[in-house]
Amino acid sequence: MNSSMLFQCILLIFYLTLCVRTSIAEFVPGSYLTLPQCITATEVSAVYPNDPGWRDAKVGERIRFQRRPVVVTYPINTTQVQWLVQCANSFKRMPDPRNGGHSNIGSSSMDNSVVIDISYMDSLVIDPVTQTATVGGGIRLGPLYIELDKAGFTIISATQPTVGLSGAIASGGFGLQSRKYGVTGDFALEAEVVNWNGSLLIANAESYPDLFWALRGGGGGKYGIVTQWKLKLIPVWPKFTVFNIDYFYAGFEEVLTTFWNWAYASIEDLTVSFIFTNEEFRIQGHFLGTKDQVHELVDKTGLFKLSNAKAVKHDECTHLGSRAYFLDKDRTCDKIYLLNVGNSPFGPNYAGDPSLQTTEVILVTEGVIEGYGAAPEQQRELVKTKSMFFAKELSIENITTIVERAKAMPPGAQAELTTYGGILGTQATDLTAFPHRNGVAYHLLLTVPLTGNATIDEPALNFINTWEETLRPLSNGMSYVGYEDEDLPNPGLSYFGGNLEALKNIDSIYDPNNVFNSGQSLNQTELPIVNEKCPYIVGGDPPGRRSAGVKINENNLIYITPILITFIILIAF
Ligand SMILES: Cc1cc2nc3c(=O)[nH]c(=O)nc-3n(C[C@H](O)[C@H](O)[C@H](O)COP(=O)(O)OP(=O)(O)OC[C@H]3O[C@@H](n4cnc5c(N)ncnc54)[C@H](O)[C@@H]3O)c2cc1C
Ligand SMILES: *[C@@H]1O[C@H](CO)[C@@H](O)[C@H](O)[C@H]1NC(C)=O
Ligand SMILES: *[C@@H]1O[C@H](CO)[C@@H](O)[C@H](O)[C@H]1NC(C)=O
Ligand SMILES: *[C@@H]1O[C@H](CO)[C@@H](O)[C@H](O)[C@H]1NC(C)=O
Ligand SMILES: *[C@@H]1O[C@H](CO)[C@@H](O)[C@H](O)[C@H]1NC(C)=O
Ligand SMILES: *[C@@H]1O[C@H](CO)[C@@H](O)[C@H](O)[C@H]1NC(C)=O
Repeated sequence: MNSSMLFQCILLIFYLTLCVRTSIAEFVPGSYLTLPQCITATEVSAVYPNDPGWRDAKVGERIRFQRRPVVVTYPINTTQVQWLVQCANSFKRMPDPRNGGHSNIGSSSMDNSVVIDISYMDSLVIDPVTQTATVGGGIRLGPLYIELDKAGFTIISATQPTVGLSGAIASGGFGLQSRKYGVTGDFALEAEVVNWNGSLLIANAESYPDLFWALRGGGGGKYGIVTQWKLKLIPVWPKFTVFNIDYFYAGFEEVLTTFWNWAYASIEDLTVSFIFTNEEFRIQGHFLGTKDQVHELVDKTGLFKLSNAKAVKHDECTHLGSRAYFLDKDRTCDKIYLLNVGNSPFGPNYAGDPSLQTTEVILVTEGVIEGYGAAPEQQRELVKTKSMFFAKELSIENITTIVERAKAMPPGAQAELTTYGGILGTQATDLTAFPHRNGVAYHLLLTVPLTGNATIDEPALNFINTWEETLRPLSNGMSYVGYEDEDLPNPGLSYFGGNLEALKNIDSIYDPNNVFNSGQSLNQTELPIVNEKCPYIVGGDPPGRRSAGVKINENNLIYITPILITFIILIAF
């Protein structure tokens, strides 16, 4: 072999290696001129501010804070999420994950962010032997309940079927039978996480345990994007009863006092809440046992007799029917389709804008599970909420204060007093980042409808301020991060209490450059309201076109060049 041939061989090997290497590590986000080009190269569906459907894409279920992301993307696998984070970093935009889109303050669709909506990443694999499931981070709770039920399993999480699994775990995830089993995060065994630089981490009890601790209750959109969960499952309960007790309003104070002094210490098989407005109140519950058993249990308290109580109990419902019961205004167990909300459950309605309201019922179509019907498209909500936790001790005087506030509630406002305690009451507040365990007896959630017109909304917002001033001192001072409240003076402390310092530390380790900084971020308190008429971003990227289906990777041009050079050199020799 002469030196010229040797040189040719070495050159050939060199270029071949180069070609192979570049086609493995092919995605170089910095090599694109614009953010839309970078996103196009990921092959992810994207909606930009000028596209049809933009308004629908940029908001979730809560529309009070409508912000200006630069693009909303819909990845379908983890690699695409990794690339999107790298694109966002390269063009100095915040990658903002979205799952169910229920953030009160629009945390999953922040100004100038690249929204990474993972709601199409909803795969599910059940292992009945180990009673575990591997679930895409984008699944919503309704479809999750249905799929698990097919295999005879369930999980503890929120009642609302459109809430996202990842968002619920990021907040904690309280629901039916949390008093017996804990919150959703307590069922997580492992999380697959895309971190700040687009790398993939597996977090569990052994690997990155601090990150794993923070992901369960430490707030969403801060430590990384969870693309997949491994969950522990519960076999569906053999027997359960759902019930409602309706009352005459005159007995409000007596019933509330009886309820307050009893429910938090009741047996853990009972999930029970007290729901009230300025003219109606009722108790609703879910019990692991028969009608007769629940009757015997509650009857001792007098709650089936006080104030003209009218109780209806069902113990013949299917498991999914018992979940649908809490969604059905008629309180039947028949409407299982209400859980079947698909991937894209929100209709084109925006509360405050009557021209966009529809009266006809339109069914959800995308991602609906076959054989269960389909839920109607969901109404988006323009509301303000207040969340407070209470320890058990409240004087009669204090309950009178709550009743007085309740009677002054504006029309359409509703409050729900949910019972904590049970197993949660025996658990340390730092078991996971979700702190509302030992010492908590109740959670009180106030929801007030708004219109978006400051003049009309003023009395309702004033009412909320009085509610805060009067009732906060009776509470333990804390609020649920799942119901973010932009008015809290120190949101981090209210949401996480004694876990805040540890969370800040974990945040600085796993997101050192503060790449993830959504509204639930430990630091952020200022949340500007956006001018809806002007969706363009000063100094931002020009809005591009919808990139769905575009397959040309402009990077490929880079690989062609060395191949051409190789051939030219080979021919020359
Ligand atoms: C109508 C309604 C009913 C509710 N009912 C209950 C209830 O019964 N029990 C209960 O516990 N809570 C309840 N919640 C609160 C709910 O659990 C929280 O608001 C939760 O954060 C919503 O999750 P999401 O995925 O739907 O929202 P999103 O807005 O998509 O996400 C919430 C936050 O998590 C981040 N995030 C989303 N996906 C990921 C991810 N994959 N990785 C990392 N971060 C992510 C987002 O950036 C955002 O900051 C309710 C809320 C509403 C509006
Ligand atoms: C992710 O999805 C894209 C688009 O369908 C596909 O080209 C790519 O191969 C997928 N990647 C993986 C790792 O599945
Ligand atoms: C990405 O982040 C991980 C975890 O922080 C780190 O180990 C890795 O070196 C980072 N990679 C780059 C390219 O910065
Ligand atoms: C709450 O109860 C305590 C003890 O009775 C009382 O001192 C306090 O004034 C009450 N506060 C309100 C707002 O009811
Ligand atoms: C807000 O409501 C008031 C009272 O109904 C009305 O006079 C005003 O025009 C409304 N403002 C806007 C901006 O619609
Ligand atoms: C919080 O904000 C301060 C100053 O604005 C900044 O220095 C710090 O890095 C931020 N911390 C986190 C955890 O975001």
